[in-house]
Amino acid sequence: MPVVAKLSEIPNLGKKQVTTEGQDILLVNLKGTIYAVESECPHQGAPLAGAMVKDGYLACPRHGYRFELKDGSCKDQPEFVLRTWPVRIEGDDIIVDLV
Ligand code: FES
Repeated sequence: MPVVAKLSEIPNLGKKQVTTEGQDILLVNLKGTIYAVESECPHQGAPLAGAMVKDGYLACPRHGYRFELKDGSCKDQPEFVLRTWPVRIEGDDIIVDLV
């Protein structure tokens, strides 16, 4: 499983986009927990690097759909689900399981 970034690079409520094994991933730090989600909105492909992080969800900047960071579900439009991957932290390393 690849090390994709360092924990110290992403402040609380911050985001960092990385590409690993050909996959674009958005890392989000929510109060010390790192989530790995796809970097484009499943609705119409808006880049989520500019999304707002709030109350455990990511709000798409284009139409405002809210995606839960923990499982990618969308309360606003349940047919759209943001892809997520398991994350492991080892020391300062963020490791994403690209299953
Ligand atoms: S493109 Fe993200 S909500 Fe429409």
